[in-house]
Amino acid sequence: RARIPFKNESFTDFSKEEHKRAQAEAIEQVKSELGRTYPLIIGGKKITTQDTFASVNPSQPDQVIGYFARATVEQANEAVRVAAETFEKWQYVPAEERAGYLFAAADLMRQRRFIINAWMIYEVGKSWVEADADTAEAIDFLEFYAREALRLAGDHPITQVDGEDNKLVYIPLGVGAVIPPWNFPCAIMVGMTSAAFVSGNTVILKPASTSPAIAYQFIRILEEVGLPAGVVNFLTGSGAVVGDTLVDNPKTRFIAFTGSRDVGLRIYERASKVHKGQRWLKRSILEMGGKDAVVVDETADLDAAANGIVTSAFGFQGQKCSAGSRAIIVEQVYDQIVQKVLDKARQLSLGDVTRPDTYMGPVVDESAMRKILEYIEIGKNEGRLVLGGSHKGPGYFIEPTIFADVDPQARIAQEEIFGPVLAIIKAKDFADALHIANDTEYGLTGAVFTNKPERIEQAQKEYHVGNLYFNRKCTGALVGVQPFGGFNMSGTDSKAGGKDYLLLFTQAKSIATKK
Ligand code: NAD
Ligand code: ALA
Repeated sequence: RARIPFKNESFTDFSKEEHKRAQAEAIEQVKSELGRTYPLIIGGKKITTQDTFASVNPSQPDQVIGYFARATVEQANEAVRVAAETFEKWQYVPAEERAGYLFAAADLMRQRRFIINAWMIYEVGKSWVEADADTAEAIDFLEFYAREALRLAGDHPITQVDGEDNKLVYIPLGVGAVIPPWNFPCAIMVGMTSAAFVSGNTVILKPASTSPAIAYQFIRILEEVGLPAGVVNFLTGSGAVVGDTLVDNPKTRFIAFTGSRDVGLRIYERASKVHKGQRWLKRSILEMGGKDAVVVDETADLDAAANGIVTSAFGFQGQKCSAGSRAIIVEQVYDQIVQKVLDKARQLSLGDVTRPDTYMGPVVDESAMRKILEYIEIGKNEGRLVLGGSHKGPGYFIEPTIFADVDPQARIAQEEIFGPVLAIIKAKDFADALHIANDTEYGLTGAVFTNKPERIEQAQKEYHVGNLYFNRKCTGALVGVQPFGGFNMSGTDSKAGGKDYLLLFTQAKSIATKK
């Protein structure tokens, strides 16, 4: 298996009747499984707690997806203790065996693709296409990191000197707290967790509180493929309580986090403090937010640009770190682009994501909805509202919303809203557009629509983002193809899905032997 080169999983073609039927059946099946109670899993032991919280369907908040244990500080510390104990053996398990668990898990995910999609449709309100891409990316991460772990365990070229044998080996770090977000509830959760344990570390996986049921599906798969108890521990609960405890514990060796800027900064600071009994400097791998922009110049294919803007802004309701929440248009084509974007955005369907053709569903929860609606109110004083702006109940639905004529320094042009809100900004010329694009504290993704080779060259040098795209949308990075991670306040540029990623979960040891 490892000898077959990595290839991205294809997306499901839902125009085919058989796929449509299979997805609809999976949605029915998952519906019959909603409302169950789930335990913590520490060292393979399933632990139920008195105190639980509900994960609910954002399309229909009175429908409970599942009840999850609210772990205590003691349980979080116990999970770290058990993970540290398990690490003593797991660190020496050969890479072939560790990679084998990932290949087996990828196979099970393929078999359960429609079921996993269905959990995302229910728990976070993804459309069929968005859910399917998320599952495909999770499978890609498993396949990619399994091969990478084998590569890393192999020989590495090193300069030799007479009279000695020299080599460099990569060894694991220890116990990792893996803290994913809810917006790629399968892909990012699977990617960070599997990268950590395939490199020989043990893990406490603390899923986001709005998407624990999806994480549980992965935990089930890991149990089924026979991953030894204690290698991945499942700990649900309050991000603040459990998260701080995991980060602070002196036995935690690293933190792999993807989420908001504020929580990322909190982890960065807390992880830098050395606690009593701690023997290392904790490593933190932090991937955070974005205020990504699509730039359009006067030479661009205007229809393609308008399509790119709309897809980047409103795919999964704009709840992607990669979302193009700003469109920066040179003044020569500004009015034309605004009109085209409006025409396209008006055609987007908003509503029932259990149906195949719905493009946009709800935002993830009530607090996200309130925050987005507050930004829309702020936007009304900062730009010209040209589309949407309202909540459509009873679920957490927000119309695709567009503000035109927004000042580059306006709050809705600088702060991550993380919802279906697009700010359109007029630039004097291409240089001005690039300057505006760069003028935020983030630097995650960006797109440029132009037909001038010298502008492509200029943007390649000057557009300061981790993932830059030309003449296409700024979302949808593919594992292995576009390693993903951003600059500045977008994080540590870890390049998930790239050949450097597993290095973050290992440390290199140089070994010299006199002949
Ligand atoms: P969030 O920061 O609210 O939560 C992320 C995770 O951190 C959750 O599991 C949460 O429970 C946990 N958490 C909360 N408080 C904590 C604490 N004190 N200590 C430790 N963990 C804690 O983010 P979110 O709302 O889940 O996700 C959306 C954010 O994630 C957006 O800002 C988005 O841009 C970002 N994101 C970034 C990337 C990327 O690759 N750069 C990818 C996806 C999402
Ligand atoms: N990797 C995801 C994307 O590129 C966040 O959209």
